[in-house]
Amino acid sequence: MTIAVEAKPLRINDLAPDFTSDSTHGTIEFHKWAAKDWVVFFSHPKDFTPVCTTELGEVAKRKADWDKRGCKVLALSVDGVEEHKKWTKDIEETQDCKVEYPILGGPSAKDAANLYGMIHPNASDTFTVRTVFFIDPNKKVRAMITYPAPTGRSFDEVLRVLDALQLTDKASVATPVNWKKGGDCIILPSISDDDAKKKFPKGFKTLRPYLRVTPQPEV
Ligand code: BEZ
Repeated sequence: MTIAVEAKPLRINDLAPDFTSDSTHGTIEFHKWAAKDWVVFFSHPKDFTPVCTTELGEVAKRKADWDKRGCKVLALSVDGVEEHKKWTKDIEETQDCKVEYPILGGPSAKDAANLYGMIHPNASDTFTVRTVFFIDPNKKVRAMITYPAPTGRSFDEVLRVLDALQLTDKASVATPVNWKKGGDCIILPSISDDDAKKKFPKGFKTLRPYLRVTPQPEV
């Protein structure tokens, strides 16, 4: 019996819904698979398509970047797992990489896609659009990105967001416009100047009382 899964819009800090799905690595029980790691869970529209081929290749080539950040990656399109496996050979040959992360596929992946709102009916009734969900070790959705099918994503940006989330979880800072790992940060307005002097031994510059800039803290 197929159970219809209602799409519910996910918002920041919602619990990332659990699901069980077929994948190129066998059955995945999402919460169990994620364990205590960060997860970047992303959908792509279709196998054997050019933009998706470059994206999945890029994700594979950045394995060391995900590992360094304690982050697992999980891909999804509603094509079947056997198609994913055939397409993976094309990705590896054309993008010069090894795809070591799982790709969810088939009817159970479609249910997971609906849980995460990855199918946007005004874009396509059947394809998943290009979504990215950043999920933390407590299984909370921390950020989301959505692009239409013809627009390939920047995985530099995905890694940058992951860096910002991991940093701002550990230090009382926010990241300013165009921030990159190692760049100056903003001290949270809720921190008093006295506390800021203790917390930020590298010092800070006060441009306005609400705009205090400090070198990226060590975390
Ligand atoms: C692509 O991955 O190239 C693609 C997929 C669906 C629509 C447009 C482009």
